[in-house]
Amino acid sequence: MRYYELLQDPDQAVVQKQLIGLLTDHCPQVLEDLRQEADEIRHRSVGDTVHVRGIIEFSNYCIRSCRYCGLNRGNNQVQRYRIPPDEIVKTAREAAAMGLKTIVLQSGDDFYYTREVIADMVREIKKTGVAVTLSVGERPRDDYRAWREAGADRYLLKFETSDAGLYEALHPGTRLDIRLRCLEDLRDLGYQVGSGFMIGLPGQTPEILAGDLMLMRSLVLEMAGVGPFIPHPGTPLGQDSAGEVNLALKILALSRLLLPWAHLPATTALSSLEKDGRRLGLTGGANVLMPNITPPEYRRLYEIYPHKAEVKDSSRELYQATLELIKELGREVALDPGHGLSPATRLMLREEL
Ligand code: 5AD
Repeated sequence: MRYYELLQDPDQAVVQKQLIGLLTDHCPQVLEDLRQEADEIRHRSVGDTVHVRGIIEFSNYCIRSCRYCGLNRGNNQVQRYRIPPDEIVKTAREAAAMGLKTIVLQSGDDFYYTREVIADMVREIKKTGVAVTLSVGERPRDDYRAWREAGADRYLLKFETSDAGLYEALHPGTRLDIRLRCLEDLRDLGYQVGSGFMIGLPGQTPEILAGDLMLMRSLVLEMAGVGPFIPHPGTPLGQDSAGEVNLALKILALSRLLLPWAHLPATTALSSLEKDGRRLGLTGGANVLMPNITPPEYRRLYEIYPHKAEVKDSSRELYQATLELIKELGREVALDPGHGLSPATRLMLREEL
């Protein structure tokens, strides 16, 4: 547990320095060792089960202009869609019947779906007994409150980068502190909170990446998602290069060492760049898979980045393939909803490992 110990130093400046050293190192053995430690810590803290979360991407309309994202409002090449609420609920019911324990509702920042419409969907879906995760962007605190009261369990909102300058450059017209304020609101309201960042963004430095990892830890996230940046030709960053797979794998492993308690997905972005991405994720710190259960006629239109994995198969096929991969790796599909661990348990894990 050499690297784990190194990262436990109570002095944050020391941890930051260790992280920068590891991020700038290119020795394959260091990556392998980090992955092995991450796998062991994953086993000891969250066990060998894999949580499967079905994601429904219900609208690709977006009011924002994020320079990396294919759904940004300025991209007029996108065929936009909105799935009607009753069809979203029907899709969620089918997924619950298939055995999924968590449904994730994700969309662009699309205020067509009002506070009440989303609250009603949450209430309906909760009747099936599944956990509900929302990922619909920055909204007023009162929206977050209404959805929590309707039964939503979790919320995903990535901070994307911890560097305020880079954040503003990538997200015209908004600021990092607004995003962090949303995360605080969600925390206050009792959500299990997920966040994270992209790897390989233009202008990103090892110092910034170390800051990203440290911010994830200081937010004491229940869920942490890290994935490579993938350039989309319909965006201002279309000509930039993609994040490196090995760097993404290293940062996934470091995320596990820094947040032993957290649920960490093997992200779709990783498997879009690397065909073995989900397997590499699960063997290097991750314990969550998120098969796409958006009805296939909409799925290819949710193009955050090009060549997104999983656009072709039916939801059932994707779900089955997910279950098979888990079995193949000698792991088990979790039968519980996979809620975040309690603050007390998280604290204990931090001290005990
Ligand atoms: N490459 C990789 N990830 C992206 N996201 C958005 N655009 C891209 C891209 N071009 C990620 C962001 C966002 C999540 C839904 O998808 O992290 O939070």
